[in-house]
Amino acid sequence: MNYKKKSRCGGLVPAPAFYRERRGICDISHGCSIVAPFDWLDEARLLSEWLERALIKGFPVEIDDEVSSSLSSREPRLFISKRGKVGGEEWHKIDIEPAGIRLLAEGAAGVVRGASSIAQLALSGKGRIPAATIEDYPRFAWRGLMLDTARSYFGIAFIEKMLDLAALHKLNTLHWHLTDDQAWRLELSFAPEAAEIGSRRLDGRYNLPLWRAGSYGVADIARIVEYARIRHITIVPEIETPGHAVALLASHPEFSCAGAADADKVFKPEDRFGVFDDILCAGNDDVFSFIGRVLDEVCALFPGPYVHMGGDEAPKGKWRTCPRCVSRMETLNFRDEKGELDPERLQAWFMGRMADMLAARGRRMIGWDEIMNETLGRDSVVMAWRNEGRIAAAANASFDVVACPQTKACYLDHKQTEEPEEPGQLGVCTLEDCYAFDPVPQGIDPGQEERIIGAQGNLWSELLCFGRQAEYMLFPRLCALAEVFWTPKARRNYPDFLARMSVHRRRLDAWGVNSRR
Ligand code: ACM
Ligand code: ZN
Repeated sequence: MNYKKKSRCGGLVPAPAFYRERRGICDISHGCSIVAPFDWLDEARLLSEWLERALIKGFPVEIDDEVSSSLSSREPRLFISKRGKVGGEEWHKIDIEPAGIRLLAEGAAGVVRGASSIAQLALSGKGRIPAATIEDYPRFAWRGLMLDTARSYFGIAFIEKMLDLAALHKLNTLHWHLTDDQAWRLELSFAPEAAEIGSRRLDGRYNLPLWRAGSYGVADIARIVEYARIRHITIVPEIETPGHAVALLASHPEFSCAGAADADKVFKPEDRFGVFDDILCAGNDDVFSFIGRVLDEVCALFPGPYVHMGGDEAPKGKWRTCPRCVSRMETLNFRDEKGELDPERLQAWFMGRMADMLAARGRRMIGWDEIMNETLGRDSVVMAWRNEGRIAAAANASFDVVACPQTKACYLDHKQTEEPEEPGQLGVCTLEDCYAFDPVPQGIDPGQEERIIGAQGNLWSELLCFGRQAEYMLFPRLCALAEVFWTPKARRNYPDFLARMSVHRRRLDAWGVNSRR
């Protein structure tokens, strides 16, 4: 591959839908003022912050609701202005001329998406931006990154850095995995013991005791939610049920099936990884009251429309023998074709209750693809993770789907090459694999493609201890996925992407990202 080849589209990643080079250079290397309408003050300030970070010069914001569109002053200026309905909330158009830059958007989100292009061009050109016209809009509405903060805790500053990087790549969703077998990271006002006990585990891989600990309080979450809001990123919190819940059982053993039979049953946050037999008891009404109160707090903290309730990898062994679960299955007559009690129907009922509890709080449930069944309301969203077939199955069953199959490029905990020295687990997923992924697989019934609302990359953190390691796993693969999620399919071209990446890598370096070479 010839990396020296002249890069296209100013090296923008993801590639824009439309880019036409024009004559000249707009030089904002000494700073310039940004003129924006009052409604878009936050977005203009974000662009100013990004440019000041990139160029270490001043980019003061001025308010002007009647921005004139002529670029005529002596100093170049950057005008942000509104455009009537054209191509949706994230649509934008950028005119770069020697006399200045005009960013037109329909909605505030479009300003941020356009700002990410301007910041990228300023960063790689050190403030000297080639004149061009860019028009851009997303292919998918949901363009996500999942961060597993349960297996490893990541600090607020690191999550903010990831939100900036997500926004700079035009992603718009952060799926925040807050609870699992290894930790319960969410501080609850009504149940402080859940995080006090559940967010600390002794890492048993070492002779010397090594505590892996950390939790998120109201102030931390408010800060992240606000940081994301300004970047037009929706946060989707995840509370895992009924499986992957051992860290909650550490403070509430009575919520397990075993705890019902044995009052002295003890759990601690797992320091092993995998799938564990002890899950939340579906026969205990206290479990549902507790989750209801958790959701009251989650919905007060997170304003977004979705809450993720997990639903994956819930072994049914304990439910088959637990007297309360058995009684629940008998009462509700959950039986299979042979007349035997059917714990799969109990799980369907459990997840249906989660969906109802969220609906009562004005939110939509999203869950891993195991939640899918005939009885689940179609307002729930399926996150297809096991394989591509699940994407098609969910879409054909009229569920909205977010595609993130582990078999195809969306599991960023996988190794990036086969080499034994390469970090990662459970598989290999190269940069090219990420680029070749398409969220719309074969086998979708006609008219059901629209059900695929988007896709995301998932970063599980079993093997990660530090943010720098997380960055290595994410980059540059997340750049490839961002292009898959944003850019019109017809414009995707791997050699062209690699040529642009040779420019884009300098931006990642300048942003202090530990990306894989
Ligand atoms: C998953 O990877 N268990 C969703
Ligand atoms: Zn039970």
